[in-house]
Amino acid sequence: MNKKFIDKIAIVTGAGRGIGQAVALELARCGAKVAAADRDESSARQTAEQIHKRGGQAMAIPFDLAEVASIQAMVEKTVRQWQRIDILVNVAGIIQAKPLLEITEGDWDPIIAVNQKGLVFCLQAAAQQMIRQIPPEVRAAGRAERCYGKIVNFSSVSGRRGRSHQVPYAASKAAVINITQSAALALARYHINVNCIAPGMILTPMWEQNAAEMGKISGLSPQEEIRQFIEKIPLKRTGTVEEIARVAAFLCSEDADYITGQTINVDGGVEMN
Ligand SMILES: NC(=O)c1ccc[n+]([C@@H]2O[C@H](COP(=O)([O-])OP(=O)(O)OC[C@H]3O[C@@H](n4cnc5c(N)ncnc54)[C@H](O)[C@@H]3O)[C@@H](O)[C@H]2O)c1
Repeated sequence: MNKKFIDKIAIVTGAGRGIGQAVALELARCGAKVAAADRDESSARQTAEQIHKRGGQAMAIPFDLAEVASIQAMVEKTVRQWQRIDILVNVAGIIQAKPLLEITEGDWDPIIAVNQKGLVFCLQAAAQQMIRQIPPEVRAAGRAERCYGKIVNFSSVSGRRGRSHQVPYAASKAAVINITQSAALALARYHINVNCIAPGMILTPMWEQNAAEMGKISGLSPQEEIRQFIEKIPLKRTGTVEEIARVAAFLCSEDADYITGQTINVDGGVEMN
């Protein structure tokens, strides 16, 4: 078994299900101790239990990415338990499909609060800890083994171009690409790499919600919505959560030390820049 994250401490947000759960399992499989952080406490616990059953180390932390105080408490709890943070994978996010002309402030605010504001303050809290834990002599000498920080954010193909029925979501995901670049520039001097994944169509509970909401707008069944989306994918299939998790693990590893500020499309060829 590849233990490339042995002794590494990782926080995965949105770890209760879907892509976040797969990322948590993959990092733990490779030796990381994982804080499985999610708004839904019972699903976060289930992820942590799965990791324990497979011989790994994990802790479930309920928190709300929309609340800065809750983010800080989640990061502090991780540090109290394991004294440091080496990896943050910012997976948690929410979606809504609704036509542009019908969206309200009440639709806009929660999506931006979670996908954009929460992501930034989670990244900030983890980065502050990553910087705090660099010993002064190591900082003076440049890169050393204990000087390690990897942050991976989650955008979407919807962040690559506009979506008439996902205006707040697409805006928040476009912002994540830019936030990744800004954070990569700000944190490069501390040897903290910040990268991003833009998934295409991965059949998780989020996509089920999206298909149902899109179907209400179009009058098609959710199954037909999914079929039509798959038609537009060059590889003609949906991706799996494991395929996304493996790319996240790569970006968290030393193999990606010279990559920062990048957004990688993992989407079967839907977007090509
Ligand atoms: N599934 C896809 O096809 C797809 C495509 C592109 C991008 N993405 C992105 O990938 C990420 C994961 O997507 P998914 O499909 O696994 O979603 P999902 O809805 O299946 O899971 C999201 C998880 O985030 C948690 N979460 C939501 N709001 C939270 C909050 N305020 N605080 C803490 N936790 C919260 C949920 O409880 C859930 O466990 C999201 O950022 C999503 O936008 C997914």
